[in-house]
Amino acid sequence: MDLNNAIAGRRSVRDYTSQGVGEDVIQNLIDSAVHAPSAVNQQPWTFTVVRDQNVLERISKDAKSHMLATMPVGGHSNHFASRLGDPNFHIFYHAPILILISASAQGPWIVEDCALAAENLMLAAYAIGLGSCWIGFAQSFLNTSAGKNMLGLPDDWVPIAPIIVGHPKGMPIPLVPAQSRAT
Ligand SMILES: Cc1cc2nc3c(=O)[nH]c(=O)nc-3n(C[C@H](O)[C@H](O)[C@H](O)COP(=O)(O)O)c2cc1C
Repeated sequence: MDLNNAIAGRRSVRDYTSQGVGEDVIQNLIDSAVHAPSAVNQQPWTFTVVRDQNVLERISKDAKSHMLATMPVGGHSNHFASRLGDPNFHIFYHAPILILISASAQGPWIVEDCALAAENLMLAAYAIGLGSCWIGFAQSFLNTSAGKNMLGLPDDWVPIAPIIVGHPKGMPIPLVPAQSRAT
């Protein structure tokens, strides 16, 4: 797929079929992710692939409680609270896999590095007909000891980009971007 078409066509997908994603496909997505630039070429990223729906269900439940307990007042909190308080809301939308990008090294730019890897991964997924969505709702819980324990992550890793991936039930229509500020 042409890169401009991938950039323009990718959307966050929140509705998936139950079809799994093969190991070779996941490996290709990770290969695309690790071509991202990184500060001082540190490449601090690690990739944790979670397919176990019971684990995703437990993380979803605990991440919702954690967000509700720790979320600052104001901003989007009222909207978030009504979603997070809904017992039927699954933060991973029952996607078949979660690919969590974490930093396994410290440094001032690990968040930028992992976010760039995440964007590569999401564009690569779209280019082969898969859907994806960054799940920020999972982030603060995954950064707790309990969250890291659930995935067997070392204490000093920093979970940054939880990306769900799967076969979309339908692709959302392209977003009309905010007005370009390029001069
Ligand atoms: C850092 C970050 C966190 C996000 N967290 C969530 C989330 O928890 N749940 C969700 O459904 N979408 C989440 N999204 C997806 C955004 O809502 C989405 O990217 C935005 O609405 C623009 O839509 P598009 O991705 O289809 O262009 C997140 C996106 C980013 C970049």
